Amino acid sequence: MKTMPSRAYDVVILGAGAAGMMCAIEAGKRGRSVLVVDHAKAPGEKIRISGGGRCNFTNLGTTPANFISNNPRFAISALSRYGQKNFITLVERHGIAYHEKTLGQLFCDGSARQIIDMLVAEMHAGGVELTLETQVQSVARSGDGFAVQLSTAAVSCHSLVVATGGKSIPKMGATGLGYEIAGQFGLSVVETRPALVPLTFDPAALQRIEPLAGVAVDAVVQCGKVRFAESMLFTHRGLSGPAILQISSYWREGREIVISMLPGIDLFEILRSARTERGKQQVGTILSGLLPKRVVHLVVDEATAAKRIADLPDRQLRALSDAVNHWSIKPVGSEGYRTAEVTLGGVDTDALDSRTMQAKAVPGLYFIGEVVDVTGWLGGYNFQWAWSSGWAAGQAA
Ligand code: FDA
Repeated sequence: MKTMPSRAYDVVILGAGAAGMMCAIEAGKRGRSVLVVDHAKAPGEKIRISGGGRCNFTNLGTTPANFISNNPRFAISALSRYGQKNFITLVERHGIAYHEKTLGQLFCDGSARQIIDMLVAEMHAGGVELTLETQVQSVARSGDGFAVQLSTAAVSCHSLVVATGGKSIPKMGATGLGYEIAGQFGLSVVETRPALVPLTFDPAALQRIEPLAGVAVDAVVQCGKVRFAESMLFTHRGLSGPAILQISSYWREGREIVISMLPGIDLFEILRSARTERGKQQVGTILSGLLPKRVVHLVVDEATAAKRIADLPDRQLRALSDAVNHWSIKPVGSEGYRTAEVTLGGVDTDALDSRTMQAKAVPGLYFIGEVVDVTGWLGGYNFQWAWSSGWAAGQAA
């Protein structure tokens, strides 16, 4: 791939991430001259670190219901035209071995780098130019196209595709450029906030959580009517793990989350039976048979743990059962964009055509991927949105 672009292109794509590369591949296949610009040293940096280095590249069960947006219907068109099966076909065509880890989540057997190599090879086949370590200095309307001033050259294009991602992990090159371009062209942006992010707690709550750092439990975590059944991790900074990351996309300041650490188990009834059948046993011993020891210390004080279960009235058994299965706790915040996997909110979908991702009021301007107000759950959904929205724009740009 050349690094120094010629000056006029059919399509210029800002951002060589998942969405930008997919869009470039598709536009290139259509014979369009395409330039992809990124300020990073390498394309697909987030792909490289994703899924613990193995990239959870899609989810077998992807449906529009797995996405959060002001307009929940917006994602339907792109997801139905280029869905998980299409991307899996591409992965298989490149001979990349993969496996389902859990809940429909597909990961590479080898390395996330295989996905990047696949996308780069496909771009190459389509004659796409990629310029890295290049700053975007300005973007302006020019005739019925666009003029883009880069740190290395001035270029023009008929179609400008903004694929600069969200704000998460600024250390890795995330910027607000996409939102700025949207603002410049009069498109509104739905308020952004960190999502799929660990939650933090006040000092009193943290004092109880901290000794459990490293412990994971299967849990159901609920906020309002939304609930996720996945694993939850205690950390030195608060609560994390898939169930917490998922609920963080729905949690808002001032609200409580409710945690069940023995989901589907009627602990009150178990404790009552134990009281009848093994009344001499200590409360702590009985709970240790059901929960990790350190979690037992969280839900019951030492004095109660040392008591015989026969000595506990129903009221105390109920309180114990609630401490395990109805633990209401109010986060004070999240770890923020520093560790968030994605950004909630983004370019308002009302301003975009759901079939092409083109700005309704600005012909030739497209927004794809995470910069758009479509945010997936944890589990491969965010990459699927990047592939689907990138593909859709690639058919039109
Ligand atoms: P993406 O962020 O991938 O790409 C944007 C590109 O634009 C970057 O290359 C960036 O350098 C460039 N850029 C930004 N500002 C620029 C500027 N001003 N000038 C020039 N270039 C600029 N999802 C999933 O489905 N499965 C998973 O396993 C994971 N795992 C995961 C782990 C971690 C640690 C994170 C942070 C995120 C994930 N995700 C994920 C989420 C997923 O990575 C994310 O949703 C997609 O990468 C979004 O794709 P985009 O192409 O929209 O943005």
